[in-house]
Amino acid sequence: MTTITLARPDDWHLHLRDGAMMRAVLPHSAAHFARAIIMPNLVPPVVTSAQAKAYRDRIMAALPEGMSFEPLMTLYLTEDTDPNDVAAAHASGLVKAVKLYPAGATTNSASGVANFDAVRPTLERMAEIGLPLCVHGEVTDHDIDIFDREAVFIDRVLDPIRRATPGLRVVMEHITTSNAVDYARAQDGTLGATITTHHLVINRNHILAGGIKPHYYCLPVAKREEHRLALRNAATSGAARFFLGTDSAPHTDANKLLPCGCAGCFTAPNTMSILAQVFEEDGALDKLEGFTSKNGPAFYGLPVNTSTITLTKIPPTFPPHVDSDDGPVTVFDPGFDLTWSVQ
Ligand code: NCD
Ligand code: ZN
Repeated sequence: MTTITLARPDDWHLHLRDGAMMRAVLPHSAAHFARAIIMPNLVPPVVTSAQAKAYRDRIMAALPEGMSFEPLMTLYLTEDTDPNDVAAAHASGLVKAVKLYPAGATTNSASGVANFDAVRPTLERMAEIGLPLCVHGEVTDHDIDIFDREAVFIDRVLDPIRRATPGLRVVMEHITTSNAVDYARAQDGTLGATITTHHLVINRNHILAGGIKPHYYCLPVAKREEHRLALRNAATSGAARFFLGTDSAPHTDANKLLPCGCAGCFTAPNTMSILAQVFEEDGALDKLEGFTSKNGPAFYGLPVNTSTITLTKIPPTFPPHVDSDDGPVTVFDPGFDLTWSVQ
């Protein structure tokens, strides 16, 4: 095959940031994706519907003329979140999900949840109105090894939350382990799981063997090869509960290369090229459209995009970094030559 046309993809987990960084990265997502679930971990976080509305307006103002893109806004769940504000934001169509960060799990998650009983009224209200909860699934206990934090979260936090809140729609975000794949596969249609581009490509050796590679450091951190293979298998299987959430998370090179560097891989520019190659390698090009363009809308109850995107078998070139007024941002390097270009 030398050409493949897909319903236009959506990104079900994206960090656009704000200000100069947003202006630099937004066109790269809008070039390929019709819609994206926008992460609310700004400083300060997007907690209220008023903040989400203002952030949405800033995104639309930063969109270059002639491009179209629909930001699907989320609210950052805190122990002080007002269930009525959440319900109103959902009813107005502004907000498509609520984001749960365990306090301290990742970039700008200090206002996240430590006491899960405190958010029970909001979760119950969300189950009633059908508003999905997007979950960063890692425990933060210092005595739990960082490579085990996702698996432990499923047992200690995720499964108890789902049992206590029947009907709550939950997205396990950026899953990184076979444990998460197995858990997701065993659940009913109220559970979805996103998989990033980079977790289909790298394992923990890419970060740590032969010198430390800060640009491959993200959270949840990439795991052993057997886990990467389980993710590839899930993504390319065609199973409806797995869909693309790139977790494209730009940080300036200066912030990535600190002694305590930031977590995040910036994959917005080359995600579609990488995915076409991954799916082709696994003999599953016919499953690419489900993963990037159909399974996500089905989970969120939204229409599949009517516009399309075409990939052709022409080696693309990507700049090694995107410039922002805050400084350069390195584009994720898959470590192999790409063969598919977006037309
Ligand atoms: C994200 C970021 O930088 O905001 N970083 C990352 O490594 N994925 C936060 C997140 O999604 O965990
Ligand atoms: Zn993220």
